Amino acid sequence: MARELATVDPQERFLDFFKKGKYRQKISQIGITGRESIIVDFEELFGFDQRLAERLLEKPDDFLQHAGNAAYAQLGIEDAEYASKLEKLTVRIVNLLGKEQLRKLGSKQMGKLIMVEGIVVRATPVRPMVMNAAFRCKRCGTINQVEQTGQFLKAPPVCASPDCGRDGPFEFVQDESTFIDSQDLRLQEKPEDLPPGQLPRTLNVKLVGSEIVDLARPGDHVSIVGVVRAFAPSRPGIGKLRTFILHLDANSLEVLGKEPETRPPSPEEEEKILALSKDPEVHKKIMNSIAPSIYGYEHIKEAIMYLLFGGVSKSLPDITIRGEMNSLLIGDPGTAKSQLLQYVAKIAPRGLYTSGRGTTAAGLTAAVVREKGGSMSLEAGALVLADKGIACIDEMDKMRPEDRVAIHEAMEQHTVSVAKGGIVATLNARTAMLAAANPALGRYEPHRTVAENISLPVTILSRFDLIFVLRDVPDREADAKMSEHILEIHRRGISPVEAQIDADLMRKYIGYSKTIKPRLSKAALKHLKEFYLAMRSASETEGSPVAITARQLESLVRIAEARARVALRKEVSSEDAEAAIAIMKRSLEEVGIDLSSYKVDIDLIMTGRPKSVRDKMQVILSVLIEMEKETGMVEKAALVSELELKHKIPRAETERMIWQLLREGTIYEHREGYLKKT
Ligand SMILES: Nc1ncnc2c1ncn2[C@@H]1O[C@H](COP(=O)(O)OP(=O)(O)OP(=O)(O)O)[C@@H](O)[C@H]1O
Ligand SMILES: [Mg+2]
Ligand SMILES: [Zn+2]
Repeated sequence: MARELATVDPQERFLDFFKKGKYRQKISQIGITGRESIIVDFEELFGFDQRLAERLLEKPDDFLQHAGNAAYAQLGIEDAEYASKLEKLTVRIVNLLGKEQLRKLGSKQMGKLIMVEGIVVRATPVRPMVMNAAFRCKRCGTINQVEQTGQFLKAPPVCASPDCGRDGPFEFVQDESTFIDSQDLRLQEKPEDLPPGQLPRTLNVKLVGSEIVDLARPGDHVSIVGVVRAFAPSRPGIGKLRTFILHLDANSLEVLGKEPETRPPSPEEEEKILALSKDPEVHKKIMNSIAPSIYGYEHIKEAIMYLLFGGVSKSLPDITIRGEMNSLLIGDPGTAKSQLLQYVAKIAPRGLYTSGRGTTAAGLTAAVVREKGGSMSLEAGALVLADKGIACIDEMDKMRPEDRVAIHEAMEQHTVSVAKGGIVATLNARTAMLAAANPALGRYEPHRTVAENISLPVTILSRFDLIFVLRDVPDREADAKMSEHILEIHRRGISPVEAQIDADLMRKYIGYSKTIKPRLSKAALKHLKEFYLAMRSASETEGSPVAITARQLESLVRIAEARARVALRKEVSSEDAEAAIAIMKRSLEEVGIDLSSYKVDIDLIMTGRPKSVRDKMQVILSVLIEMEKETGMVEKAALVSELELKHKIPRAETERMIWQLLREGTIYEHREGYLKKT
């Protein structure tokens, strides 16, 4: 080693590297761009001189200096005038041959040059950092220049004036000091790099220099090359701790694309994907492969399928319309909501599972937090971190009050804006959302409105494309099947229903589908329009104030597009439109809207108890009383048929209302299957 160093001066080697081809040209043009640094692709340096490149990784402080000196020397040759304006040229290295896992960083990497990838979760504003500090001696007035390194501002030990030499006191003089821009980031492991079941780790990164600060915002995916440093935190009055904390001094930063990493599929995989897409049963197959261990809920699995594939976002010159869908599951305790959410977070190319509170101070949207040193920084919440992915938010009703406000913007405009503590920023949150919540009263009360059943404001509810209610109602037949299913899982330790498509293929399939942007066909458009107009005009003639809104129309388009995407079709067919209408109807019905009479009134349903429901309960009661007069007690099945036949009340609805009347105690079950008015 020593001999090598003596024979080959590293700076000379770097100079050889910069003298030729691409880099020579880059250096000759740097004056035009006004930049103060030059970016070097590590792979090219490695190709030029493997040994030199390796030593750069080993001793980055020395070798970055050598590289910088060489580049500056070359600049002196190429553009002497610009060189005289700069004091030095910084070399920034990108594209190391391998990246380190954040969680594997340890003592071995200390002092080494490494590359890491991650999501920026926190960023301070850009702040000036003093490089050369000027201190005036208060005794003699001499200005002492002190070069600054490390974390804390250092005053000179004694006055430099030969006539003085006393130990101060000194006073900092800002005008005579030199500053450089700096910024602190916190980098977090990407969900895709996370071993299953592990919490993400973070690493603090220090950026110094106007050319690398402010490149990345919270939520951005970045690749950073830098030197691993360690410092010992100190405890006041005790001293420094023996265990050190790692951070990274960044040398270069690149913002990466936001699309989830999808390697293009191999030819065999592509063959499988295309074969599946041509299967006429593709929708069913995919639906049945979603959380097969969870029994039932076909319509919810269908909705989840649409959510996973998503509609097409539209960017017009003046507005953008989201393509990602939001769905909400409101349900009684123990109805597998959390299980469904966790499944989706696992299967989605960029899925994130969180509770309504969020896992950090930033909650679901974003927050300005105070760092230990007292400075402020902006931290990204779950919806920002899941940008371009799917956020699964459990217990959404328990979100922070700040999020309740900010989530409105996040759900429709797909941005999160922050203006607080001197930080003004807008972050991207192009996130599909699958949320779950418990009913406010513990159990879902079917003849109350959705808004009454859940402690979320109507303005948030109306931003969901689909809302479903999961109720835990005792039902002999269903209970028997479900318990069999669950017990079978416990007995055999595997799901009784096998997924037709394994998780790996599913993930690749979803990734592949995103390249397809289906367009509405004329036939599909006609279908959606007819449905929408029928709904609108029906409520008009009924004299109801607001019918379904444009929001539902956009939701229908998204669902239809997603369905076309599932089959990798470029065109949205009329079947897609029909399926979209069907599931939308189902969702509207579940939240208590009566579609049979077309009295669809979103505002009413969300805010107040619809009159039609109360009317119907009256009808049910009067029919029951009539029938009771004849037979003494009424068979439930007969009552349901009677109502369906003579009063056109759908069976499901009657069942729901009977259940409610039973709960209220207005009627009671005299014998199993037989009802009586109390
Ligand atoms: N339809 C079902 N199929 C299979 N398992 C089910 C089903 N419904 C509930 N379970 C089981 O019941 C348990 C409870 O489910 P989970 O914790 O997801 O409920 P939850 O809806 O999130 O309840 P809570 O509102 O109290 O959080 C889970 O172990 C789940 O597997
Ligand atoms: Mg739960
Ligand atoms: Zn002095």
